[in-house]
Amino acid sequence: MIIERKSKVNLPDLTEQDGHLFQSSREDARTSLIKLAQTMQIYNGAMKVVSAKLELLDDEFQFSNKHNPIHHLEYRIKSPLSIGKKLQKYGLPLTVEAARERVLDIAGIRVICNFLDDVYAVEKMLLQQADVTLVKRKDYIEQAKANGYRSLHLVVKVPIFLSGSTEEIPVEIQLRTVAMDYWASLEHMLRYKNKDSDTQQYAAMLLDCAATLADTEKKMLFIRQHIEE
Ligand code: GTP
Ligand code: MG
Repeated sequence: MIIERKSKVNLPDLTEQDGHLFQSSREDARTSLIKLAQTMQIYNGAMKVVSAKLELLDDEFQFSNKHNPIHHLEYRIKSPLSIGKKLQKYGLPLTVEAARERVLDIAGIRVICNFLDDVYAVEKMLLQQADVTLVKRKDYIEQAKANGYRSLHLVVKVPIFLSGSTEEIPVEIQLRTVAMDYWASLEHMLRYKNKDSDTQQYAAMLLDCAATLADTEKKMLFIRQHIEE
């Protein structure tokens, strides 16, 4: 199952927007916007390519091991507003070039796995592929963040074949178990939907929940491995 959080952009709409969108802008702003839309299109392609790879790996694993490592996938393209905020945070110019060079999570995939060992099995199978290059890896499962957040973060590059060229495009992949996703969703809700103070107020409880979930999923993995034997 794939869950896509979608915002669609297209070239005809952008070029026909002169009426209001470009009223006060100059020609170069218009060119930048079109370049941005084309970039988003290519990143969307990379996101679909990596998702298709993950789905195929899930099917193949199921065929040989009689269980699916992936519970479901979610993907999203970062909005131009969020890309702009990140560039500002890094003190970089608001250009498409800077975004392509420095914002590695324009295309993002979240892989929610059934069990702890599935996370590493999926990582290994994906990184073995000849056209997948690892750019960055952070293992917050081995070393959880101070707040209790756990997930395996990868940035990989894949080639995207366009009509006149081939480009290596980065895709951020967050691999986590159902339990880790359950925890991260609540923590995210407290942090972004409400106020930072809520996260502060519940910090100790959240940390405790993270430890309980980590312990529970270790036991559940133990049970599954024994059932399989
Ligand atoms: P940024 O992308 O600017 O945050 O820097 P980074 O790429 O070094 O960050 P990192 O790889 O640590 O985390 C990137 C993403 O992981 C975030 O956008 C979140 O989706 C997720 N993430 C990281 N830390 C937390 C956390 O403490 N709680 C939750 N809910 N999600 C987190
Ligand atoms: Mg990031």
